[in-house]
Amino acid sequence: MNIQLSPRLKVIADCVIGAKSMADIGTDHGYLPVTLVAGNQVSTAIAVDVNKMPLEKTKKIISTHGLEKSIETRLGSGLSVLEPGEVEVIVIAGMGGLLIRDCLKADSAVAQNTKKLILQPMNNQKILRRYLEENGYQITREELAQEDERIYEVMVVEPGEMVFTNPLEYDLGHHFMANKHPLLKALIDRKISLEEKIRENTRGKDTSFARQQFLASEAYIKKLNEVKKCL
Ligand SMILES: C[S@@+](CC[C@H](N)C(=O)[O-])C[C@H]1O[C@@H](n2cnc3c(N)ncnc32)[C@H](O)[C@@H]1O
Repeated sequence: MNIQLSPRLKVIADCVIGAKSMADIGTDHGYLPVTLVAGNQVSTAIAVDVNKMPLEKTKKIISTHGLEKSIETRLGSGLSVLEPGEVEVIVIAGMGGLLIRDCLKADSAVAQNTKKLILQPMNNQKILRRYLEENGYQITREELAQEDERIYEVMVVEPGEMVFTNPLEYDLGHHFMANKHPLLKALIDRKISLEEKIRENTRGKDTSFARQQFLASEAYIKKLNEVKKCL
């Protein structure tokens, strides 16, 4: 079976290349470790999932590719099944930003003793970036991937320090203006369109929460449009 990685997983895989070992937390189908090991881009991998069913799928695909000696599967939550320094790179992708933050928090000794973390939150990117800034991590690279109308944010993170100088960096990526990723405009358009839905849901509503939310959404959309003009 030949695996065709989606654009999102392809960007994540590219960020892992160069490492000897990796762990994929929440591996589900196991495509990422199998592709990387089968392509000799990583020597060994640990595929982790908290649920038995996905791990069974992963075991099958590992055996189809004859990679049992190079890819281990572990059943468990987040980083709890890893030892500090056991792998060079840890990927946590396709999960909510709060869950990713909670995985890092719960096993910070593992997270802090890993050369590189590749994080791809599906939402709450802002909260995750703030957590990283406040807890001894630095984002060394930000990538974007597009699948249909969705834009996925991928962060390459290392232990270290970073400071955000522009509040929009929590939302659009560390140093987004200096990096000017080719998909940055598409990311901003997507964020504007999501925020417009929030604004329209609160328009004319008669509670103070709704009025505040409406004004906050208006201000945020205005700021995003200003950034777009500078690109
Ligand atoms: C949406 S899939 C993402 C699959 C893959 N990482 C990707 O990006 O395509 C989420 C997977 O994470 C697993 N998962 C959820 N919470 C987890 C946790 N705390 N620890 C490990 N795996 C978890 C789920 O069982 C599921 O297989």
